[in-house]
Amino acid sequence: DGLTVGVDVGGTKIAAGVVDGDGKLLAHTRRETPAQSTEGVLSGIADAVRELAGAHEVHAVGIGAAGFVDANRSTVMFAPNLAWRDEDLRTKLSDRLGLPVVVENDANVVAWSESRFGAGRDHDDVVAITIGTGVGGGIVIGGRLLRGGFGVAAEIGHITMVPYGRRCGCGLQGCWEQYGSGRALVTEAREIARHSPAFAAGLLDRAGGDPDAITGEMVTELAQRGDVGALHCFDEIGRWIGLGCAQLAAVLDPSVFVIGGGVSEAGEVLRSRVEATFRGNLTGRGHRPVAEVRLAELGWEAGMVGAADLARTHPDTAVTRG
Ligand code: BGC
Ligand code: NA
Ligand code: ZN
Repeated sequence: DGLTVGVDVGGTKIAAGVVDGDGKLLAHTRRETPAQSTEGVLSGIADAVRELAGAHEVHAVGIGAAGFVDANRSTVMFAPNLAWRDEDLRTKLSDRLGLPVVVENDANVVAWSESRFGAGRDHDDVVAITIGTGVGGGIVIGGRLLRGGFGVAAEIGHITMVPYGRRCGCGLQGCWEQYGSGRALVTEAREIARHSPAFAAGLLDRAGGDPDAITGEMVTELAQRGDVGALHCFDEIGRWIGLGCAQLAAVLDPSVFVIGGGVSEAGEVLRSRVEATFRGNLTGRGHRPVAEVRLAELGWEAGMVGAADLARTHPDTAVTRG
């Protein structure tokens, strides 16, 4: 009764799942994302949905996509870290699948699912920040997802953190995601491995002596074991993320920040650092309530669950409940 499919389309994988009205994931499947082929991504999504729809009666499909989605929840206008340019995912997919489709930003769907079913379920004003290849954002205010005038609210990864700083995939310089993302974590680790090999001894050892072989997972694993070089990398990104939270608090005043995305699997190592810098840079500190900084709860399911729930509740794909 009223099952929908949610699809999380990331830089490296497509994850699709059948979800019920309580946000419960009933079945799921995965495909690789063919990096630079938009047609490959499209057929990967269609294929995954067909597999699930063969075994469950599904009514609609929601897609969480890592890019700027238009106000109609149809077209990915731009994706700083993927090949999509004016890609009308909704039309192309609904033609192929014969099902109603709704497209939403990947971090917006995480914010939606965390605010309904996850770490923000006891709050109405939630800002979710996803730390992965980029920095994504989703804003739920008064229980509603903020989409802005053109669909692209909460593109927080492209707030200027450092004037004229590092180059970004979006075409600007100094964007937040160049300092607070998973990619920035790895960049920092490789940098210290190259220039301060003694400090980075643990990381270098783990990567077989090759700075370029260091991955985000390695940095996380070592940080959790207390390695100083790896912890330094989390000090870095945690600082930038916390600083950004303070800016967002000045504008939006959420009661909770939810930190998600792949890098949030580092857990308390990341959360505690974000919280410390956030508190230290919050305006009016000592004279105002302070938002909590929580880790996301739904993990790798968040994107699928949120996209499926939006497909259920979006007017154009509304499911009639019997
Ligand atoms: C994109 C966002 C996306 C985020 C996380 C950013 O670079 O601009 O649309 O939500 O990465 O994937
Ligand atoms: Na967003
Ligand atoms: Zn940018």
